[in-house]
Amino acid sequence: MRTPLVAGNWKMNTTISGAVALAGEVAAGVEHMAAVDVAVYPPFVALQSVARALHGTRTSVGAQNMHFEESGAFTGEVSPNMLDGVVASVILGHSERRHIFGEPDELVARKVRSAFDHGLTPVFCVGEQLAERESGRTEEVVGRQVGFVVDQISPAEAARMIIAYEPVWAIGTGVNATPDQAEDACAFIRDLIDGSFGQEAAGRARVLYGGSVNTGNWDDITRRENVDGALVGGASLDAPDFVRLVEITRDALPAD
Ligand code: 13P
Repeated sequence: MRTPLVAGNWKMNTTISGAVALAGEVAAGVEHMAAVDVAVYPPFVALQSVARALHGTRTSVGAQNMHFEESGAFTGEVSPNMLDGVVASVILGHSERRHIFGEPDELVARKVRSAFDHGLTPVFCVGEQLAERESGRTEEVVGRQVGFVVDQISPAEAARMIIAYEPVWAIGTGVNATPDQAEDACAFIRDLIDGSFGQEAAGRARVLYGGSVNTGNWDDITRRENVDGALVGGASLDAPDFVRLVEITRDALPAD
C-alpha cells in the first residue's frame, strides 16, 4: 500500500557539473521502475541545475537542509522560499546536522513545521548513537526525537511525512543495522505515529532505513514489512549502484 522510496543523500559531494551528470545517469537508469519512487538530494548550489536536468523524469530532487525562517539575517542559511519551485522535499534533522552542527530537537521540529507550511515534504531523520543503543536506550532516544515533531503536525501531515531511521553508528561506517534492527526501529516509529495520529496516518507515512545501505545488504532489509525504502549516502554517489538499489527494492515488492 505504500510506494517505497529510494533516496540518495549526496551530502557535501559532487560539483555542479558532476551532480548534473550523476542525476542524469540515475534518472535514465530508473525510468522504467515505476513501482519505486526515486529522489536525489544534491548540494544546494547544484539544485537548480539538477532540477532542470530531471524535469520530465520520474526522479525528483530535494534539499539536504533548510532554515525555518523565510528570510533574515542568517548568514549562510537557505530558506524555504528559496527552495520554492525547485525542490519537492527536504531532509531535516540528519544526524550530521544534529551531531556535527549541534541542531537540537526543538530546531528540527521547527524546520519540519516550516517545511509543511511551505508545501515541502520533510524527510525527517532520527536515530540513536552507539552508546545509546548499547545501553538499551534506542526507543527512548527515537521516541524523544519523534515526539518533538509529533507536537507540531496534523494527522494529514503525519501521513505525508517521510521519516528516516538512521542509526548514527551505521552512517558511513560500513556497519549496517541488521534487518531485524531496522525492522524493529521502523515498526516502533510507525507505532508512535499510530499512537499520536491513528492507523490511517501510520499506514501511509513512509519510514525509510539509512546507514551503510549497499547492493550487498539491501535485499534483506527492504523485504521487511515496516521498511519503506532507503536513505542512501555513499552508495548513492555511484549511479549503477544506486540504480541497482532501486531495482532490488522493486524486485522485493510482493507480486500483486
Ligand atoms: P551512508 O549510506 O554513507 O552510511 O550514509 C547514510 C546517510 O547518512 C544517508 O542520509
